Amino acid sequence: MKAWRASLLRFDADGRAVLDTDGLLVTAPAHTANGGGRRVVQAAGDFATLAPQYAGVPVTHLPGRILAPGFIDLHIHYPQTDVIGSPAEGLLPWLENYTFPHESQFIDAHHAAQVAEFFLDELARNGVTTALTFATSHPQSVNALFAAARQRQLRLITGKVLQDRHSPDGVRDETAQSLADTEELVKQWHGVDRLGYAITPRFAPSCSAAQLRGAGELAARYPDVWIQSHVAENLDEVRWAHELFPDSRSYLSIYDDFGLMRERAVYAHCIHFDDEDRALMRRTGAVAAISPTSNQFLGSGFFDYAGADRVGFGYGLASDVGGGTSFSPFRTMLAAYAVGREGQTKLGLSLSPQHLWWQHTAGAARALGLEGVVGNLQPGNESDFLVLNPAATPLLARRTAQASSLDELLFAMIVLGDDRLVEKTVIMG
Ligand code: GUN
Ligand code: ZN
Repeated sequence: MKAWRASLLRFDADGRAVLDTDGLLVTAPAHTANGGGRRVVQAAGDFATLAPQYAGVPVTHLPGRILAPGFIDLHIHYPQTDVIGSPAEGLLPWLENYTFPHESQFIDAHHAAQVAEFFLDELARNGVTTALTFATSHPQSVNALFAAARQRQLRLITGKVLQDRHSPDGVRDETAQSLADTEELVKQWHGVDRLGYAITPRFAPSCSAAQLRGAGELAARYPDVWIQSHVAENLDEVRWAHELFPDSRSYLSIYDDFGLMRERAVYAHCIHFDDEDRALMRRTGAVAAISPTSNQFLGSGFFDYAGADRVGFGYGLASDVGGGTSFSPFRTMLAAYAVGREGQTKLGLSLSPQHLWWQHTAGAARALGLEGVVGNLQPGNESDFLVLNPAATPLLARRTAQASSLDELLFAMIVLGDDRLVEKTVIMG
């Protein structure tokens, strides 16, 4: 066993944050049949209460620091690491002028491996310990990322992008081969150590009906594999999806019509929805990856938090790099706050600091079907955690020292924090 003594942040089952100012985190090897090398939280709570029980365990004492669950990024594109900050008029020209040319380079396995290492370093620097990420349409892009993540013992989910039409040479794949490649990659990687596979149709406009049908069949054959795609991000895209699939009730229902909505299906954006779409999300157990910095950058619109909560479907936060402008969960949480504030001025919605943080940790884990596995520091969770230094900058130090409640402390870090706040990212500690 190992133990750390510092302030300790975790979440209760209702998503409320709990802070032990003087806390103890105890970790131990997992005792399950397939525990193989995993370490989990054995105990978490007040130091004075727990210390007698764990008297013989070596303790790392970190005064002034906060131990927090590693962040989960529910939607990101590792091959778009070099696309961040590419100016465009909106989603479709951005894809055509920047994204597809960059992604075409991932035919080269060496390039993929080099970007994968940089990407994983950047996640770690920013305190992201689990990501659901797109690869490209090239199977070698998936192999490169899984191999690099396995080396680092990460819990990470990715998949080969499916895009057999309306895509340029260099990224367009071929229907039958793309589905065979997907199944092969599922067999090769899903469930290996902490890795998971996601069936990844890019978005309905880039996939033929045959490709979506094949993806849906695979999703039925491998029910614990994830599904990830984009939906209802941009009005031009929504119109295009309607034209291409006139028999479907809405853009979202295209995915339902092809068997791509179920638990473990994560749809990025979900902006231009009506209540029938929201009900479809709830009924099927599919969830939304809210990507506010991307939506701001590409001028896509605002996620409707009030609508999601009224109808009751799951969601969590995501960077959507390279449409998104930052790897930092602090930037994403702050942008989400602005969405709650400005996107729904009529409702005057104000997302609480605890709820913002939950959406990027325990809430994101719930959205992935990984509640109790990652995203929290309650007993049984895998021990991926952050050492935060709330005095990392002069202003952070000054402001956090004056916080008089947990919400004030969390909000000061959301507003002022960045990679400097993350002193250390611990995987399987
Ligand atoms: N829709 C289809 N592909 C993409 C992508 O790469 N990024 C975003 N933001 N939306 C998409
Ligand atoms: Zn995306």
